[in-house]
Amino acid sequence: MQRITLIPGDGIGPEITKAVTDIFAAAEVPVQWEEQNAGQTTFDASGELIPQALLTSLEQNRVALKGPITTPVGKGFRSINVTLRQQYNLYQNVRPAKTTAGIASRYADSGIDLVLFRENTEGLYSGLEMYDAHNGIADSVARNTVVGARRICRAAFAYAAKHGRKKVTMAHKANILKVAGKVMLDAAQEAAREFPQIQYEEKIIDNMCMQLVIRPEQFDVIVTTNLFGDILSDLCAGLVGGLGVVAGANIGDDMAIFEAVHGSAPDIAGQGKANPTALLRSALMMLHHIGQHDKADQIEKALNLTLQDKSKCTGDLGGSASTAEFTQAIIDNL
Ligand SMILES: NC(=O)c1ccc[n+]([C@@H]2O[C@H](COP(=O)([O-])OP(=O)(O)OC[C@H]3O[C@@H](n4cnc5c(N)ncnc54)[C@H](O)[C@@H]3O)[C@@H](O)[C@H]2O)c1
Repeated sequence: MQRITLIPGDGIGPEITKAVTDIFAAAEVPVQWEEQNAGQTTFDASGELIPQALLTSLEQNRVALKGPITTPVGKGFRSINVTLRQQYNLYQNVRPAKTTAGIASRYADSGIDLVLFRENTEGLYSGLEMYDAHNGIADSVARNTVVGARRICRAAFAYAAKHGRKKVTMAHKANILKVAGKVMLDAAQEAAREFPQIQYEEKIIDNMCMQLVIRPEQFDVIVTTNLFGDILSDLCAGLVGGLGVVAGANIGDDMAIFEAVHGSAPDIAGQGKANPTALLRSALMMLHHIGQHDKADQIEKALNLTLQDKSKCTGDLGGSASTAEFTQAIIDNL
């Protein structure tokens, strides 16, 4: 029985988390949840945004499933997601985007099946920011290290090789960002030489955006910097049905946090309307990560079957079922 840290989060977090744990229980997945929360809920209760008990649990279990978290608005509150990624060196942000029967999108018939690897700890999000008030000059430094660039590029190629993928595309702007951009490009070319069986191509980020919109099915694995990845990953989510249905993972060498990439949806919290698909799919990535492939496949089949019956789906998917009814339909399909 593997112990997993469960962070329910805020807003709709507890509702979609319950859906996932109910489905896992019905499928008899051999995991033991250790619940430790973070965010607005813990802040209101104890004044702590990220309680020490959560950090201890993460350090012990090394694998976590996280619901959406509200970072209180105001000075002095650092994003919890950014904090956890940097504190535990979760340098790979992995976001698959795949068209699924039953999930509407403009590209529903395109056969999109891509995985985006975003560098998760460096680049423009390194936190190196200065404001010279006297001269009115703002600097945000995009720091890419050779070590950081190499490990994300290598991770993308290793994933492609392991999962029988054919091609890796590096999305960059090294034609303008001659220093930080080039470090990424060099690292990708180095990884490409290490994996000669994987086709490699480079696309400048602006062209990459256009290509993704015109012919997204041409892409397989994409690797890119923190900022470009942040933007591209939402673009890719939009190609396959939006943030409510895509999975996400933050992965390091010795810890991984799987999360719903959408927010805590305060407008529908507590109303039983939330769609648990994004968190469930993230939980399925987690099952693959811990080697529970059969259980992941079994639950994915049940989810896909449920998605094809609109009457069983939540409102955002075009149905009118509640979170609990959608969850029960998945369980019935197991
Ligand atoms: N990963 C995270 O923890 C994360 C990510 C983004 C935003 N947030 C936080 O979430 C809060 C709300 O942010 P927001 O309103 O900009 O974005 P949001 O993703 O919470 O909501 C945007 C819209 O999508 C809907 N929606 C989102 N998830 C849904 C689901 N699973 N099922 C059905 N509908 C869903 C919401 O009802 C809302 O109309 C903010 O405090 C923000 O900081 C957290």
